[in-house]
Amino acid sequence: MIRSKRSVQNLPVYQAGKPIEEVQREYGWQDVIKLVSNENPVGCSPKVIEALKDLHLLHHYPEPLAPVLRNKLADHLNIKPQKLIFGNGSSELIQMICRAFLEPKDESILVDFTYSIYQSEVKIEGAIPIIVPLQNGVYDLEAMYQAITSKTKIIWICNPNNPTGALIDHETLRVFLARIPKNILVVLDEAYIEYVTDLRCPDSLTLSAEFKQLLILRTFSKIYGLAAVRMGYAIADKTIIDVLHRVRPSFNTNRYAQHAAIAAIDDQSFVTHWRTVNHQERNKIMEQLDSWGLHYYPTHANFILIDTGLPSHEVFQFFLERGIIIRDRLKYPTYIRVTVGTPEQNRRFLAVFAELLSS
Ligand SMILES: Cc1ncc(COP(=O)(O)O)c(C=O)c1O
Repeated sequence: MIRSKRSVQNLPVYQAGKPIEEVQREYGWQDVIKLVSNENPVGCSPKVIEALKDLHLLHHYPEPLAPVLRNKLADHLNIKPQKLIFGNGSSELIQMICRAFLEPKDESILVDFTYSIYQSEVKIEGAIPIIVPLQNGVYDLEAMYQAITSKTKIIWICNPNNPTGALIDHETLRVFLARIPKNILVVLDEAYIEYVTDLRCPDSLTLSAEFKQLLILRTFSKIYGLAAVRMGYAIADKTIIDVLHRVRPSFNTNRYAQHAAIAAIDDQSFVTHWRTVNHQERNKIMEQLDSWGLHYYPTHANFILIDTGLPSHEVFQFFLERGIIIRDRLKYPTYIRVTVGTPEQNRRFLAVFAELLSS
């Protein structure tokens, strides 16, 4: 028998949100609402669709370093292009980070309820995840600091945190970074940062200039609405980026993705608009949850973690049978996570939720 390496023998397979097509096939619904993967509910900027029509040269490999996109994004962020690297989604960058920096038995600190891929990738490298509990859905940075040992290599912070939506503010993050030994990489995953409207939101680019061990992860999959094309990026000191290039798969970001991201950066009004709509809509949902007396975590992102008080797999099924896909199977058995949709989708979600509560 061919045996896998020991570190992957008991590794669970990542459970992605149920795809729309699958629900259409299984339930015959045409009008399925997907509120499970925190995507942009309306898609991407029309300028991206337009730009993709011009795409030629599909028989040639893409440029490995995505130089046009890199310069464009560097200009947009006002940083040096050498501080950027792209991934086939930011999830590929998480893989590259672990591959490049973790040796077996190294330790890596993360919280108990966050994006699950950090832990899987740490384990695949034979390193040891050191798990620090969230306090009421919020990062306990003091406990993370206390968890540091001479074996610590990477600390993971997801801000706002998926799935609790909690935000670490600029000053708190800065004080934390200042305490961390310089040989430990701090990964700040900002997949949802464009949704934050709180003025205390970290200015992570300034922090990146101050702390050379900070690596910021971002993605075009969320507010930019480009989850299908797979494009994420990391911002860090050139010395860290240079190491990541050594483990980067040769043509990891494709022509479509590079082209789409360039057009997406050009349409910042799309981003601003969706930040505003999301802000209004998540407030409406939270107000309704308040009026029902349900517990949820106040969110800074485009999703809400809600305690339904009922077994979450039953809640999932109830919504599914009415054409709405939500996230169940979370750490807590009665919680669901719901992506903030369009105003119309949210109305339908809340109507079905009301039906569930009254049944
Ligand atoms: C916190 C967080 N980071 C990273 C990702 C990965 O996104 P992508 O690989 O699409 O860029 C996700 C996706 O859900 C996420 O929630």
